[in-house]
Amino acid sequence: MTLLDGKKLSEQIQEELRLKVLERKNAGKKIPHLAAVLVGTNGASETYVASKVKHCEKIGFKSTLIRFEEKVSEIDLLTEVNRLNHDTDVDGILVQLPLPKQIDVEKVTEAISPVKDVDGFSPVNIGKMVKGLPAHIAATPYGIMLMLERYKIETSGKHCVVIGRSDIVGKPISILMAQNSIPGNCTVTLCHSRTKNLEEISRSADILIAALGKPEFVKADMVKEGAVVIDVGITRVPDETKKSGFRIAGDVAFDKVAPKSSYITPVPGGVGLMTIAALMLNTMNACEIREK
Ligand code: GUN
Repeated sequence: MTLLDGKKLSEQIQEELRLKVLERKNAGKKIPHLAAVLVGTNGASETYVASKVKHCEKIGFKSTLIRFEEKVSEIDLLTEVNRLNHDTDVDGILVQLPLPKQIDVEKVTEAISPVKDVDGFSPVNIGKMVKGLPAHIAATPYGIMLMLERYKIETSGKHCVVIGRSDIVGKPISILMAQNSIPGNCTVTLCHSRTKNLEEISRSADILIAALGKPEFVKADMVKEGAVVIDVGITRVPDETKKSGFRIAGDVAFDKVAPKSSYITPVPGGVGLMTIAALMLNTMNACEIREK
């Protein structure tokens, strides 16, 4: 069994980006700038956004954090997005999800200029991705693809089973894995809460991607011997033995599944950190596109 080390790989990609920023600086070119919008004080969102800003600084990107109170109106949020769209110094915009219920998430997502939409959530970027055209690809699926690519995992002709059909992970990763590309070229089965014989389908996976957000849902008897297992789960589970009061759990029962797998991602230290690397790559890419 080989551990797919998201921490190491993410650091490697970020080091490549740091050098690229230095080169750009020396050439008198623009420094990539990510603007992150955070609404409210949701603990997990605070942690994710803080991590994104910290990694920008580490690489040498410029970053701006814009905070709104939980009760912000939709129009005020849309006005800020519009301002960021027109701010010529800003290359990438992300609005951290989830948003409070008075805000229509689709309106906000669609308001972000597609070239600055480094989360890859806008219908324009999703449409381009489906057609295999150059696009910002959502950070989690992009991070998974980078991981498979850099570890040189053979995907062509394999059966890839995705569990979970979210807009952010399940749907896009199922499309990317089926695409005529490397990695890609899989036969993909997308499973969800209404899937019959889920265990049986899961057992037939050469590559299993668990992205349903249910801690330790994937048990050893759902995994084929030698499968590649990608765990996208990142759920806070109450744990009194931890100072924070919680631990982070993946969607895979790691201890029992790992011995059966050929490759597996740990949680934490797997896909989560790859999403940061992917977001940073999208931001660099946005900067380069805008330059042209
Ligand atoms: N909430 C959970 N994941 C994400 C993400 O990748 N981007 C944003 N903007 N919000 C999220």
